[in-house]
Amino acid sequence: MLLKKITILSLFISLISCSSGFSEKEKQEYTIKGKEIAQASFNELSSQLMTQMQAGGPAQAVPFCKEQAAPILAQLSSKYDANIKRSSDLLRSCKIEPTERELEIIYGYKKLISEKKDIQPIVEVDSDNKKHFYAPIIVKTNCLVCHGKVNETMSVKTDSIIKSIYPFDIATGYNEGDLRGVWSITFNK
Ligand code: HEC
Repeated sequence: MLLKKITILSLFISLISCSSGFSEKEKQEYTIKGKEIAQASFNELSSQLMTQMQAGGPAQAVPFCKEQAAPILAQLSSKYDANIKRSSDLLRSCKIEPTERELEIIYGYKKLISEKKDIQPIVEVDSDNKKHFYAPIIVKTNCLVCHGKVNETMSVKTDSIIKSIYPFDIATGYNEGDLRGVWSITFNK
């Protein structure tokens, strides 16, 4: 009987210590780091995008995104020693493939938004002991030019530019405040 109790107790302790393989302190640190990286990536992408928009409108900015979005994120990935990815359930780029976990998180965020609840970044460790940070990407007014509703917030002209480059695009029809996707950051250490 005593032995049984000890076995149960040690099992319990090992469960606790297993989940604390990622301590609260570490979780906080990775949350701060993740937020910083996501913010820096957003700032870099959006400032370059705005420069292109001012210089030549969507006809220049859309091809720029196609050519430069991935290299910009690759450069930031090496700077921050992490893999920085934007993921979505409704994709424009055919080079992005959402993982199962990313999709789960996206659907979870969408549910919370529909219930008008607060959404927070998620930090977790996977079975290979890799640390991940996920945070929502919310649609803002200036995103609608290229991700909005055709003939309403997005012009037919821009839609045709996008369709000519991305024939399989499904990343339109958004409203301000919708979830566009997630930042998915995997830390190298
Ligand atoms: C000038 C048009 C334009 C504007 C404005 C724009 N995007 Fe995009 N967006 C694109 C293009 C083009 C791609 C595909 C890039 C690629 O091929 O890697 C894209 C891709 C994305 C992706 C990656 C997932 C996917 O569907 O490929 C996300 C997330 C995204 N945009 C979010 C936003 C957000 C948030 C804003 C506003 C802050 C925004 N975009 C503004 C053109 C635009």
